[in-house]
Amino acid sequence: MKYQDSKNSLETATKILKVNHAGEFGAVNIYKAQLFICKIFMKQHVPMLSNFLDDETRHLNLFWEEINRRSGVKCKSFWLCGVGGYFMGLISTLLGKKGIMACTWAVESVVIKHLHNQLVYLSSKNDVAAYNCVKSILDDEINHRDTGYEQGGTANFLYAPFRFMVSTFTESVIRFGMR
Ligand SMILES: [Fe+2]
Ligand SMILES: [Fe+2]
Repeated sequence: MKYQDSKNSLETATKILKVNHAGEFGAVNIYKAQLFICKIFMKQHVPMLSNFLDDETRHLNLFWEEINRRSGVKCKSFWLCGVGGYFMGLISTLLGKKGIMACTWAVESVVIKHLHNQLVYLSSKNDVAAYNCVKSILDDEINHRDTGYEQGGTANFLYAPFRFMVSTFTESVIRFGMR
């Protein structure tokens, strides 16, 4: 998706920050749901998921700080992301380790494409603060995606419909939030 100037009162840069903030809330909830189950049944995954959760919590706060320097308003998709994220986290964990990794890989693959396009837009607008905000999370998200891939997130073809569902949901909430 190419990012363009907003057609309504809210600037595109502010929308990007809001959408990303909502997305981070979704990510936080994915990992919270996965940790909830893994702490009982799959303790071996707890350290990795805890690290991911720490990253997402840091990202969440980062976007919220920058939003508060501007509009101070949450995205309309904020709660949808939270509930959807928690739901995807639960389903993925029921599918086992490869399900958990499939969820991470699918979400982050979509997110990273958007982050790259957002950076192109924000640099064209010389919005240094928003650019730096987005840029500062990129390496973490790439690390999450690559971990998802390396740990078998794309290995099970039976989970292709699940990966498709996760990608579609992620893409949809981003587009909805940017409207
Ligand atoms: Fe994140
Ligand atoms: Fe992430």
